[in-house]
Amino acid sequence: MSKTTFKPGTMLNPVPAVMVSCGSKPGEENIITIAWTGIVNSEPPITYVSVQRSRFSHDVIEREGEFVINLTTEALTRAADFCGVRSGRNVDKFAELSLTKEKADLVKCPMIAESPVNLECRVLEMKAFPTHDMFLAEIISVHVDTSLMDENGRLELERAGLVAYSHGEYFGLQKRPLGRFGYSVMKPKTKKRIAGERRQKYRKKEQKDGRK
Ligand SMILES: Cc1cc2nc3c(=O)[nH]c(=O)nc-3n(C[C@H](O)[C@H](O)[C@H](O)COP(=O)(O)O)c2cc1C
Repeated sequence: MSKTTFKPGTMLNPVPAVMVSCGSKPGEENIITIAWTGIVNSEPPITYVSVQRSRFSHDVIEREGEFVINLTTEALTRAADFCGVRSGRNVDKFAELSLTKEKADLVKCPMIAESPVNLECRVLEMKAFPTHDMFLAEIISVHVDTSLMDENGRLELERAGLVAYSHGEYFGLQKRPLGRFGYSVMKPKTKKRIAGERRQKYRKKEQKDGRK
């Protein structure tokens, strides 16, 4: 493999492109698309969103200290793109995109009902960087679409149709799962058991669908 050198830059790919809802006052309920996000701690779960100071959402999040991370699906990708190129200063993005505001449990700003996974977040601190302010926040509640749970209560997130963002493009993740956590070192016996479980699950689903 021969390589060329780029100047230092944000070449970390893929990243998420989440829809962050914020604001609880009339005219301030808004959605901003964010790629600069991630997890920084597991227990308690802590995340961050890095937001440029020029964004309408920046001051709203700073003032209210709360936001919701709504995961983006293939069906929501066009809306996510729109929320990333239009400002809440000039357009009511919920209304323009016919997205439904859903009441959150603990924060005052709305969640996006059409997103299958919503993470309610409370800001812990804001750290200023030259181009962005990073809002470090605790994830204080998680909501998941119940139709994504199997009969044993296990979350089948692979069915949510989530998307990733890589080098300026959105990609669907649904079609080609390549392996689950730890598959590179999994014992053949475990691999076989998991494959068997998966086959059984799909057979059951086919039988169920056939009956409809
Ligand atoms: C895929 C994508 C990812 C983005 N990621 C970020 C980000 O991480 N931080 C940021 O400040 N702006 C990001 N933006 C830009 C904002 O979403 C955009 O400026 C938006 O219009 C701001 O909305 P607001 O003014 O209503 O807050 C992103 C845009 C897109 C399309």
